[in-house]
Amino acid sequence: MKNSVASVAQSIVDWQLSHGRQHLPWQHTKDPYRIWLSEIMLQQTQVATVLGYYERFLARFPTVSDLGMAEQDEVMPYWAGLGYYARARNLHKCAQILHQDYGGQFPRSSAELATLPGIGPSTAAAIAAFAYGERAPIMDGNVKRVFCRYFGVYGLTHLRATEKKLWELAHQVLKAAPATLNMSAYTQGQMDLGAQVCTRGQPNCSACPLQTGCYALEHGVQTELPTPKPRTKQAERHCEMLIWQQDQQVLVEQRPDSGIWGGLLTLPQFESKAELQRFMQNQGLHLTEANKMAGMTHVFSHFKLHIQPWWVQSPAQLKEPTVSQQWVHLDQIDQSALPAPVLKLLEGIKNQASLF
Ligand code: ADE
Ligand code: SF4
Repeated sequence: MKNSVASVAQSIVDWQLSHGRQHLPWQHTKDPYRIWLSEIMLQQTQVATVLGYYERFLARFPTVSDLGMAEQDEVMPYWAGLGYYARARNLHKCAQILHQDYGGQFPRSSAELATLPGIGPSTAAAIAAFAYGERAPIMDGNVKRVFCRYFGVYGLTHLRATEKKLWELAHQVLKAAPATLNMSAYTQGQMDLGAQVCTRGQPNCSACPLQTGCYALEHGVQTELPTPKPRTKQAERHCEMLIWQQDQQVLVEQRPDSGIWGGLLTLPQFESKAELQRFMQNQGLHLTEANKMAGMTHVFSHFKLHIQPWWVQSPAQLKEPTVSQQWVHLDQIDQSALPAPVLKLLEGIKNQASLF
């Protein structure tokens, strides 16, 4: 596993400046707020998806204090559809802290950044490298893949021992790099290399700036590194969802802060058909097989959710509406904090409803 660290960082910088991504909206700014926002959005979401969300979010919340002063209910609609909603809740919590305790200013080191909610060591390093030029290494999923292959590191990458080894290598690479190293280009270059060249399926080694000295290329073990996770059967869950439409309005309710879709609005959701029917009877509504719509499946990181939607059009009164329930107009659904599969379902209803 002995491999040269000497020229790795500078090779990545040179490649980034000639072949990496140059026109992402969060590049070429030193504003830690804009950089932080992009890094949080990009933690579990692809660049193409983030682009639109990023611009809308910044137009509504131009500074960290604007975000810190807003209520969580005002923030969630700008995140709805991006998934992993704990990110949005932590983002808001972090902004509140920065607004209240830091005078709306971001701390100026990766060590301090890493003490804030939602900012792990790698994200802290990325922000500090982009905003302040700090010589701090990152170690996200893409970078792990590149390092495992280049240095021939075996072992599951989420294990402590493997992570430790990778972080050590990342520090060594930086230590061996010239004092003039362009930290923005180096940090972005590691991400770009993982996203564009050293990809998961078929790395494009002939286009890679690290091909001299790459362990995986030399030994032909690109597909064996990083060590693949053993396949476990994905957990599956099932739920019934009620689309109760009155005129052009549908009933939605707020999810509790924790769990899937925490803090978002969703359709009333039930564990079983019996539970749904009980609710319907209490409302004086009747459910038949004619109300049943095509089922859909949504894939979360840890399980699959099979959704069985039911569509009822009835002007009945909502009996004892809870505080978490409200009616939204079908024209307002794309501005509400609805998760992507629910929005899709309701878009379908809206299109059908407009035919009548
Ligand atoms: N993923 C995480 N950070 C990123 C960035 N700055 N550019 C592109 N993809 C990223
Ligand atoms: Fe990845 Fe191939 Fe480059 Fe090695 S040579 S780092 S395997 S793309």
